Amino acid sequence: MRRARSPRTTFRAARVATALAAVPLSLAAVVAPAAAAPTAERAGTDRAATERARHDRGDRDTLRAAAPKGFRIGTAVAGGGHHEEQDYADPFAYDVEYREVMAREFSSLSAENQMKWEYIHPSRDFYNFYPADAIVRYAKQNGQVVRGHTLLWHSQNPQWLIDAEPTLSDAELEGILKEHIQKVVGRYAGQIQQWDVANEIFLEDGTLRTEENLWIRRLGEGIIAKAFRWAHEADPEAKLFFNDYGVESINPKSNAYYELIQDLKAQGVPVDGFAPQSHLSTDYGFPGDLQANLQRFADLGLETAITELDVRITLEEGETEPTAAQQAQQADYYQRALEACLGVRTCNSFTIWGFTDKYSWVPVFFEGQGSATVMTEDYERKPAYHALQDTLRAARGGRGRH
Ligand code: XIL
Repeated sequence: MRRARSPRTTFRAARVATALAAVPLSLAAVVAPAAAAPTAERAGTDRAATERARHDRGDRDTLRAAAPKGFRIGTAVAGGGHHEEQDYADPFAYDVEYREVMAREFSSLSAENQMKWEYIHPSRDFYNFYPADAIVRYAKQNGQVVRGHTLLWHSQNPQWLIDAEPTLSDAELEGILKEHIQKVVGRYAGQIQQWDVANEIFLEDGTLRTEENLWIRRLGEGIIAKAFRWAHEADPEAKLFFNDYGVESINPKSNAYYELIQDLKAQGVPVDGFAPQSHLSTDYGFPGDLQANLQRFADLGLETAITELDVRITLEEGETEPTAAQQAQQADYYQRALEACLGVRTCNSFTIWGFTDKYSWVPVFFEGQGSATVMTEDYERKPAYHALQDTLRAARGGRGRH
């Protein structure tokens, strides 16, 4: 993954985001960022007003309204990471339409970058909680849960940590991780539904990503169990997950998680969930054993989730838009991923990695590919959106009473 910009840029944008998220979700709120933070009482009134406004706008025609009871339909909240290299302002802070659509359509939010080390812990003695606070507050105002992402990862670590690592003793390094987890998880205790504690710790062949992951390289495999224990101590309510890509199918990588999680559970480590990110592409077949794979983890007593679904498309020679056939294939993949999750009793959280092409990470990271989300840059619903909505509606009768 690329390296992000200087924390200073992030910090400036973050302050604006905070100011905006502190006020009620309405056009007035977004054009009046200087308004004071609401008191608890006002926040309650604001929520009621938001609900009324939603009803008045006929917001039953949304993904969250279509979902079975208790089933969370989520999106990543754009900000940080690749966004800082684009020629638009921070989407979460400035894009009124983006904020409104996100409030209306989703019942779960994931911080796309704002809770990653390089953002939330930009220097050794400074935590920048502003952008993450803003997300958590906005989610609360809109009746949404939050997925925390992420605590132990090889990527998007801050430069100070990378530079300091060779000079630190094992004990110091472990102390830094412990403090980080206690501070970050502790700050949002009771407000995070699921934490991606460990992200992408295995390679494709099922061996640990030891060289790349500074925590595992320096502190050994045992640091994984410690990270889960620290997170659980800091927030006993949050469900603690392993998260990775390329683990949609039953394969060496997902087998490695299957083994590791059983070991950890046998030792009493508080692992609650397993989540395939699900960054898919229409260039490859759909992972047809996704449901069976989720089910075997569910059978271990785990929660399961889809955490980062998108379905990227390679544009055909000379085309700027995907063809109708490509869009239909994409819709089919979104639908099958959702059906796989709905088919597993413990899969109650289904998150797409952004909902509009306007802010998708795909064209930045995958050359020649794009159109990976369910809405166009103008927030028009694509076939993939309708596939999700129809599938959720169809599932309402039979599911979700647990
Ligand atoms: C991506 C973000 O979408 C980008 O904005 C950022 O520049 C890089 O990271 N797996 C993960 C996510 O767990 O955190 C990644 O998010 C996508 C792949």
